[in-house]
Amino acid sequence: MFLTDDERRMRDGAEGAAVAAAMDLLIRYGQALDAERLCDVRNVAGTMTQPSPVKARLVREGGWNKAFAVINLDSDEDLEIPGMGVPTCQLQHGFGADALGVVPYPKQNIELQASAESFYGRHGVNILATCTPYQVGNLPVRGEHCAWMESSAVIYANSVLGARTNCEGTASTGAASLTGKIPCWGNHRDENRKGTHLVDVRVRVESFQDWGMLGYFAGQVSGEDRPVVTGDISRPDLTELKHFGAAAATSGGVELYHIPGITPEAATLEAAFRGRKPPAPAVYGPAERRAVYETLNEIGSATDVDFVLLGCPHASVDQIRRTAVALDGKRLSAGTELWLMAPRALKDVADRSGYTAAIERAGGRVLADSCPAMSRAAPSGTRVFATDSAKQAHYLPAILGIEAWFGTLEECVEAAVTGRWNGGLR
Ligand code: F3S
Repeated sequence: MFLTDDERRMRDGAEGAAVAAAMDLLIRYGQALDAERLCDVRNVAGTMTQPSPVKARLVREGGWNKAFAVINLDSDEDLEIPGMGVPTCQLQHGFGADALGVVPYPKQNIELQASAESFYGRHGVNILATCTPYQVGNLPVRGEHCAWMESSAVIYANSVLGARTNCEGTASTGAASLTGKIPCWGNHRDENRKGTHLVDVRVRVESFQDWGMLGYFAGQVSGEDRPVVTGDISRPDLTELKHFGAAAATSGGVELYHIPGITPEAATLEAAFRGRKPPAPAVYGPAERRAVYETLNEIGSATDVDFVLLGCPHASVDQIRRTAVALDGKRLSAGTELWLMAPRALKDVADRSGYTAAIERAGGRVLADSCPAMSRAAPSGTRVFATDSAKQAHYLPAILGIEAWFGTLEECVEAAVTGRWNGGLR
């Protein structure tokens, strides 16, 4: 793999042992991928503060320096970790101290995470603590090379913002954060950004729920490739694109899609396919829509709902506001809990706007930093949950062994208020 003089210097230790270990990791990683070179990044979104038993042991043995060396640099050396070399943020992690007594989440995890936040904050990591860093100030520009983790964030960065990132891991983002480098392969390269599949929408898609179901279908038909979506669709907003992308990354492994006339690298259908002839379309009509809906609801059988989960990916301010409006003047059923997950920075906006208070008056909660899938934590005794997120409906039953219902925000709020699922495809 070609290395610049600067990269050789880092590899050879000119910037210290930790940077040399990071460069060594990136070279091994790049060679395994057949990358010809590294590219410069100045935007890293990774995870360092998420608590785990392994991390707790490493911290006991050698402090946070050791934990970073082993987990984020794949190194057994005794390293002193310097400040981050480029802007770096922490994605979602565990729950924070304000979740104590609300979420059944171990106090020792909260304490370990607080200690991590203090260490990494001093080293220049921005603790955004959300799977939607693009909602709270981390907005790469079009064409910018990044090193991001979290599938729902990666697909948003590539497709909606036109930035360039693969779905990186804990170690590669750790190494990128110290060096400002990442192997230049996959989504970083022009030739890997053209559409591969055509999805022709023949049933009107305009609601939040419909965008999630369409995303789930796009992931099913394109796997890890790049769908181009055309047809009977409304102009989506941030929340719908967030929901669409998360669903496509869940049912397939989509990291990049195009919607001609809407996403930045696809002014036209021809541009989406970079001038190649589009393939035969996968049609998304009423039958396909119903099939996706039934797949997302196949784990639901009991109609008694004891948990409602909103905000996956983490909610926008508008989603929080709409939840507050839907709950206005209502009260949750005894024995049913409602959690709405949001970025902490947006929860602050919701607090100041009165939305959090409105949700809490009804008995619900606005929670930050994490989610039940990430932290494997739901209200004690949950057997059946309802959600407006295709991603959570897909993952949470397997993670927590519970039943799932997928529907609209209004159906989920009704389930929280009545304790019963009464949804259905309209
Ligand atoms: Fe975010 Fe958790 Fe969903 S991390 S994307 S809210 S599964």
